[in-house]
Amino acid sequence: MDNRAIGIFDSGLGGLTMVKKLLELLPNEDLVYLGDTGRVPYGSRSVETIIKYAGQDAEFLALHNIKTMVVACNTVCSVAMDELIYAYDMPIYEVITAPAVAAAKHTKNGKIGVIGTAATIRSEAYKSALTKISEDLEVYMTACPLFVPLVEEGFVSADNEIAVKVAEQYLKTLKEANIDTLILGCTHYPLLSDIISNVMGETVKLIDSGTETAQLVARELQQQNLLSDANPGGGIKYFVTDSIEGFSYRASRFLHSDIGGKVQKVTLE
Ligand code: DGL
Repeated sequence: MDNRAIGIFDSGLGGLTMVKKLLELLPNEDLVYLGDTGRVPYGSRSVETIIKYAGQDAEFLALHNIKTMVVACNTVCSVAMDELIYAYDMPIYEVITAPAVAAAKHTKNGKIGVIGTAATIRSEAYKSALTKISEDLEVYMTACPLFVPLVEEGFVSADNEIAVKVAEQYLKTLKEANIDTLILGCTHYPLLSDIISNVMGETVKLIDSGTETAQLVARELQQQNLLSDANPGGGIKYFVTDSIEGFSYRASRFLHSDIGGKVQKVTLE
């Protein structure tokens, strides 16, 4: 048993897709969430900057008595995992392998689409994860840089005309490629899943990187006997680097629970 918390970080709201699933699977665990909302988006920045930000995020979480760290940001995982694993003596989870495995298992026609930030797509991290599983898979990748700002601004409902237009434009080539499985290779994107699904059609299965990885984290902590036996357990603290209000409002809506009093603003630099 290990009663320390699970630390999770992302550039903004996206990692909440992971938090939502962890709350469901591991209700007794303490969670510490950091959303670097003052510097989102990461995906359009250089590799050096992403590595620097990721280091600061991880350092902040490491000060919070955590037993494991979940990097709930595909962008960071695509370019900065080696640095993080080298720097910390604790299990660190990334969000690329689990969705790649799930997509490879699901596809029938071997055509898998991947959408992500510019940095994630440029890194080809998903392509190598998928071709490691099977060289026969055909991987089609598209960067969707406007999706993260749309999510952070709350432009997520299925009838939001701007978000629908942007999605139609970004997803056009993936539709034409006749993929049957689409990896949402950014933890922000599940907030747009109604729109993405409407554009792609119901025959295309969407794979959510946060949810897939949360299942892996829950399974491994259980197998390694690292779950908490605190009674009562299950508290969650949220830290952000910009205004508390906007984050609290959108996060509460997404999690269907009022998190208002649990959010603190911090400085990382
Ligand atoms: N949610 C992130 C990801 O999974 C980061 C998006 C961004 O900050 O650009 O890639």
